[in-house]
Amino acid sequence: MNFLMTENKRLYDVFQPDHYDVYLDIDRAKRTIAGTTTIDGHASKPVIKINQKFLHIANVTVDQKQVPFTVKDNEEAVEITLPAAGDVKLSIDYTAPLTDTMMGIYPSYYKVNGEQKQIIGTQFETTAARQAFPCVDEPAAKATFSLAIKFDEHPGETIIANMPENHVKDGIHYFDQTVKMSTYLVAFAFGELQSKMTETKSGVKVGVFATKAHQAKELDFALGIAKKAIEFYEDFYHTPYPLPHSWQLALPDFSAGAMENWGLVTYREAYLLLDPDNTALDMKQLVATVITHELAHQWFGDLVTMKWWDDLWLNESFANMMEYVSVDAIHPEWKIWELFQTSEAPMALQRDATDGVQPVHVEVNNPAEIDSIFDPAIVYAKGSRMLVMVRALLGDDALRAGLKNYFAAHKYNNAAGNDLWQALGDASGLNIGEIMKSWLEQPGYPVVSATVNDQGQLVLSQKQFFIGDGKDKGRTWQIPLNSNYDAAPQIMADKEVVLGDYATLQKQAGQPFRLNVGNNSHFIVKYDDQLLKDILDHATDLDSISQRQLLQDLRLLAEGQQISYANLIPLLTRFAGSHSAIVNAELYHIANSLKMFVKPGSSEEAQLKKFFNQLSKDQVARLGWLPKAGESNDDQLVRPYVLNAALYAHNEDAIKAAHQIFLDNQDKLGALSADIRGLVLKSEVQNYGSRDLFDKLLAAYQQTADPSYKADLRMAIPTTTDLELIKLIIGHYKDAQVIKPQDLRAWYRGVLANDAGQEAAWDWLRNEWQWLDDTVGGDMEFASYITVSAGIFHTPQRLAEFKEFFEPKINTPGLTREITMDIRIIESKVALVEKEADALNAAIAD
Ligand code: BES
Ligand code: ZN
Repeated sequence: MNFLMTENKRLYDVFQPDHYDVYLDIDRAKRTIAGTTTIDGHASKPVIKINQKFLHIANVTVDQKQVPFTVKDNEEAVEITLPAAGDVKLSIDYTAPLTDTMMGIYPSYYKVNGEQKQIIGTQFETTAARQAFPCVDEPAAKATFSLAIKFDEHPGETIIANMPENHVKDGIHYFDQTVKMSTYLVAFAFGELQSKMTETKSGVKVGVFATKAHQAKELDFALGIAKKAIEFYEDFYHTPYPLPHSWQLALPDFSAGAMENWGLVTYREAYLLLDPDNTALDMKQLVATVITHELAHQWFGDLVTMKWWDDLWLNESFANMMEYVSVDAIHPEWKIWELFQTSEAPMALQRDATDGVQPVHVEVNNPAEIDSIFDPAIVYAKGSRMLVMVRALLGDDALRAGLKNYFAAHKYNNAAGNDLWQALGDASGLNIGEIMKSWLEQPGYPVVSATVNDQGQLVLSQKQFFIGDGKDKGRTWQIPLNSNYDAAPQIMADKEVVLGDYATLQKQAGQPFRLNVGNNSHFIVKYDDQLLKDILDHATDLDSISQRQLLQDLRLLAEGQQISYANLIPLLTRFAGSHSAIVNAELYHIANSLKMFVKPGSSEEAQLKKFFNQLSKDQVARLGWLPKAGESNDDQLVRPYVLNAALYAHNEDAIKAAHQIFLDNQDKLGALSADIRGLVLKSEVQNYGSRDLFDKLLAAYQQTADPSYKADLRMAIPTTTDLELIKLIIGHYKDAQVIKPQDLRAWYRGVLANDAGQEAAWDWLRNEWQWLDDTVGGDMEFASYITVSAGIFHTPQRLAEFKEFFEPKINTPGLTREITMDIRIIESKVALVEKEADALNAAIAD
């Protein structure tokens, strides 16, 4: 045990900054940063530490006098000896390199009319502000910031930051002082930018910024959503947006999806810009939810910030719920909560079923661990489901009243989880914190078994649900049951409850017994045979969320080996005619999972393809390839699922139709309807592929600025079965001119998921691991290459190779949990295939 470490866990305990004057001189040509940071603060001891990473510190002064300092690179800090404790004004001169890591201050590259250009932007969360300027880089260390930035400027360039520019003098751009905020939210950017502006009804200036590689109309959709989102939140939170402007900026190189810097939110281009005349509905919905997510953070995260990263859920879980609450208000016709059911719910239920998963609230200390808790399935998906449960228990009136008090009490300051429960408890009279403790502090979730016992009594019992090996520690949860029977308690806190005589209860209710109606509680249900039969007999009466939930829960039970996988087959046939997008999403999720039970080229695979044809053919005939004017949202969203199934089935008519569409549009592929463009390209690559086609599509990938066309090409090109072409693709993995580092994981995944390319992609990963570590190492991106691989592998051979390669790396900070869990995930699939393949293939052949 290192006592010094435990004594002062946080630098902020010893030194509390009040204000930073940050001066930066950035030279793109020389790739250097020179800076002076002056900090006013209070030191409770004469020896303090300030974070720095990769900075060459030349000089530290206090009241213009030099003081001694020691760089402590392993602590990402510099130790400074002050003349005395107390209030100080500290000045640090330093230089730093400008590098392509997508962290700190970094360049983004793009082309306009073939000419290579760059813009400079920033990404500081979680711990990269310290790479831009020395600071106490902890969320609780809130201070005000005055930025002054000089750069090798040429005419036509724009610079933007958290606050408006105040004046320019001697080529230095001075910005208004910020409000009190955390270091990880500081941001600026400059370069040749285009923009569109509007204003909210309360007078907040809203803008969207992008490079000039894009058409001006690509900014419009985001501008509309951003404006409406701020108006919505000002009302919903009963709290005004506190800054003069809200800029949204698309950066060509961006590691995460988007980042909530206060007043200057940054995005991947694909998550902000879209062609309003040709973008699929699901992509529009995604962009809208990304924008509303980041704007939700302007309050939850920026105005009130978690004290430490262990309470990251206060930021991310909340923003992840609010994106849906706000989009539902802005576009009610989208039924966006259905998207919540297809993206957040299954992601959380999947990962949270693996033993070794972290709880939503989790202790973290070193920077690699901090990055590792931004787990999309846990702090985002599960966390948002927790808050959806809270919202359901409280109702919006109490929720909003509670939030208003929470913001009033903690604005420009920090909070811990209990502060939120306190505020919501005061507003509702419910002991919400107590109920939520079981969900936030414990990993995993329960399966509730509903059975009618020998005495005819309907009995519920809860038990932790595992996919793969799991150690039952006897955990229980306080479960909001949401039953359609009054006899079920609102909250089930015990291991077991007896509800009463089933026959009597059923007569009273006049419908089959159900739990988790609406699927907003984080548990799954295992009905006994009789109860399940009663539900299935009336399945057509159920709404699409409930139908989907039935399929989903049964799939999870099958993955957890609690029921046979073969039992799912008749259900697929039964729901194949559904017009609901979310039912089809789950149906084809299950159908696609069947592929792991058949070997490429086997007779079982041929049977499975036939089965896919049966499932999809009527819907393919009903919907056709080309979107129809005025069709429903569901039809638009269902089409890609069934066409994709038809392509897998090798449905000749579908393949010919796709080819014809391709031929008719070959010189304007980008203009092809975005709803089906990806599938047309994929079919062409798979069925009419050639080197010419490959070159043409790869050239289009490099040339187009339309993010959604780019994504379609990225999906289609790696599906080629030609090994030579696969080698060409992999040959571009390290070439940022062709494949940007931000998109590499998708390209890796594409080839890995392709039976013909898997070996080559997997070899590449193992051979280039060190390069990957050096390139994307200090970032959550890195671990996700492991996750992606485990998501695909399901054979004993890959399991053995995976273990051989990753087990020796298991003690790498930030990777331990990922590797441990991913081994379990592959193991569980290997075991499932071994156990179920025969029965399943027999059921498919029937
Ligand atoms: N604060 C995060 C971005 C982030 C994540 C920064 C991890 C540093 C490390 C941001 O609010 C966010 O959640 N972005 C998501 C997209 C969002 C719409 C779910 C992302 O980047 O994936
Ligand atoms: Zn977020």
